[in-house]
Amino acid sequence: MTDMTSGIEFSAASALLDEAKAALMRSYSPYSNFKVGAALLTDSGGVFTGTNVENASYGLTICAERNAVAAMISNAGASKIIAVAVASEHDNPIAPCGACLQVIAEFAAENCVVIAEKEGQPSIVPFSGLFPSPFTL
Ligand code: THU
Repeated sequence: MTDMTSGIEFSAASALLDEAKAALMRSYSPYSNFKVGAALLTDSGGVFTGTNVENASYGLTICAERNAVAAMISNAGASKIIAVAVASEHDNPIAPCGACLQVIAEFAAENCVVIAEKEGQPSIVPFSGLFPSPFTL
């Protein structure tokens, strides 16, 4: 089965969520105890993951999604992101925070989607619905 907005297969969305869950296991979050994992799928089929990395100064914490973008750029250069999966250990699906949305927007394909887990199933929403007006120069 295929998601109508993005054309992404539900099996591919589940696989990307699994990558996000695997990244979450590596979270360094001793201050919040809130583990987050993110996995990006690019238009060339690349998958890049990140997890949240906290710091004793609190403010220097970097979210999972921004670390996934950094991994993409560091390992493969810039490319178009077609899907972003975000996982936590909590029941409610989580969305990328505002700072992460702006960073993802830099590389998001027009039909990019955000995938989270809701009641054991991938919940797929358009990135443009979450963040319709990114800042651009
Ligand atoms: N966090 C993320 O990794 N991604 C988000 O989009 C929101 C929040 C992390 C930051 C911090 O380590 C923990 O979640 C609690 O805020």
